[in-house]
Amino acid sequence: MEREEPLLFKFYPKLQNKVPWIRLLTTVPTPVQKLDELERKFNISSSGGIYIKRDDLDHQIYGGNKLRKFEFIFGKILAKKRKGVMTFGGIGTNHGLACAIVTQELGLKCDLFLAYQPLTWHVQRSLLLYDYFNANLHYAKSYTAILLKGLGFRLIHPNYYVMLPGGSTLLGLGSSNGTLGFINAMFELKEQIDKNLFPEPDIIFVACGSAGTAAGLIAGCKLLNLKTKVHAVQVSSEPFASESSVITNTKKALKYLHKNDKSVPLINITKDDFTFVEGYLGSDYGVKTKRGQNAIDLVMELEGKKKGFKLETTYTGKAMAALLDYIDEKENKGKNVLFWNTYNSADLESYMKEINFDYKKLPKEFHKFYEETQFQCWHYKDCPQNRECDAYLSHEYRCWKGKNCPEDVRKICEAYEKLSKIIELEDA
Ligand SMILES: Cc1ncc(COP(=O)(O)O)c(C=O)c1O
Repeated sequence: MEREEPLLFKFYPKLQNKVPWIRLLTTVPTPVQKLDELERKFNISSSGGIYIKRDDLDHQIYGGNKLRKFEFIFGKILAKKRKGVMTFGGIGTNHGLACAIVTQELGLKCDLFLAYQPLTWHVQRSLLLYDYFNANLHYAKSYTAILLKGLGFRLIHPNYYVMLPGGSTLLGLGSSNGTLGFINAMFELKEQIDKNLFPEPDIIFVACGSAGTAAGLIAGCKLLNLKTKVHAVQVSSEPFASESSVITNTKKALKYLHKNDKSVPLINITKDDFTFVEGYLGSDYGVKTKRGQNAIDLVMELEGKKKGFKLETTYTGKAMAALLDYIDEKENKGKNVLFWNTYNSADLESYMKEINFDYKKLPKEFHKFYEETQFQCWHYKDCPQNRECDAYLSHEYRCWKGKNCPEDVRKICEAYEKLSKIIELEDA
C-alpha cells in the first residue's frame, strides 16, 4: 500500500517541514520472503531462518536500493529548484542508471561522470541504458580524473546539483539525505516485524559500496533499539567502503536528524555496532569472483528463478557469498538472517530490444568497450538459433548456460567454449 509520507516523519513529526522528501517508490513496503530451499540446503534449525527483503521490487522501472535514497535526495534537488543533476560512478554504475531514470521522470537534465571499471556485459548494457534514458555521458580512466572533469563541468553549470558516488557522503563530505532513505527502510522493516510477518533478524547482510545503505540500516537499528546487527559486506575499495566510512556516514545522518528534530537521540556509533565484512571484494570494485558467482548460481537455482529476483556479481553476489559462509557455520544454524536485496529485478530487456545493441549512438570514446570484448553467445553470428532464442539480448550472465540453449545447439557452439575463457573469475 502506498504511503503519503515516510515512516520516519511519523515517528519524528518535526522532520516533516525540515527534511525534503518526494514519493518515488511505487511499491512499499517491499515484501520479506522466506528462502526455504536455501534453509533446507544449509540445514537451518527450527529456531532459525533465512529471509530476503525484496527491495528489488520497490520501483516498477528500476528497483533496488537507489530509489530509497533518491526520495530524500531528489526531495532536496526539487526544493532547491535545480535544473540538472550530475553524479559519478564506474562505467557500469547502477546508481547512474537510477539517476538517469529519475531525472527523466522529473524533467531534469542528467550528466554522468564515469570512470573505468572491469568490462562485463553488465557494463555494456548499462552504458546503452544511460543513453536510452537521456543522460549525457562523460568518461575518464580514473576516479581522480573524472572528479576533476566533473568539477570543471560544475563551474560552467552552477545550476546542477552535485550528487556524490552512490548518493552517499564521501570522506565526511556531501549531504546525508540518501542515507535517510535506509533509516526509513529500517522503520519499514520494524513495522513488518511488529505485524509478526517474520522474526526480528539477528543479522542483516547487505552490500557496502559507498556505505550509505549500510549506514542507514545501522542508524535505524540503533534508533529502534533492535538487537539486529548489520553485516556490511565490502564490495568496493577505500575510501568508499571501509569500517570508518560506515561509521562516518551513520554518525553524520544521525546528527542531521538530531539537528532537525532534537527528539532524535544523538547516538554515538562505534565499530561494535555493526560488522564490516572483508574478504569478498576480490582485487577491486567490479571484478567477478568465484565465491560471488557460486553464490549467484546456487541462489538463482534454488530461489531466484522461482521468486523472480536476480543477483549480480558486483554487489549482491558478494554479499550473498558472505551470508552463505555465515550460515554454513555450525553455531549459526539457529540464527535469523536477512538478506537485504539491493539489486533491481524489474525487466530491462524490452529497452534493450529497442536499443538493439546499437552502441554507435554513444559518444565515440565508449565504442571501445564494445569492440574489444564480446560477452554473450548471440554476439557470435553463426548461432543457428539467432534471434529466435530466449538468450538473444538477454542480460543474464551466462544466459547461454542451461535451458535457454538446446543441447544440440550447444554441442556445436563455439561461443560456449570461448565464453568460458573470456569470463574469468577471480579466486576470492
Ligand atoms: C545493486 C547494488 N547494491 C548495493 C549497492 C551499494 O550501496 P551503497 O553504495 O549505499 O553502499 C549498490 C550501489 O551502487 C548497488 O548498485
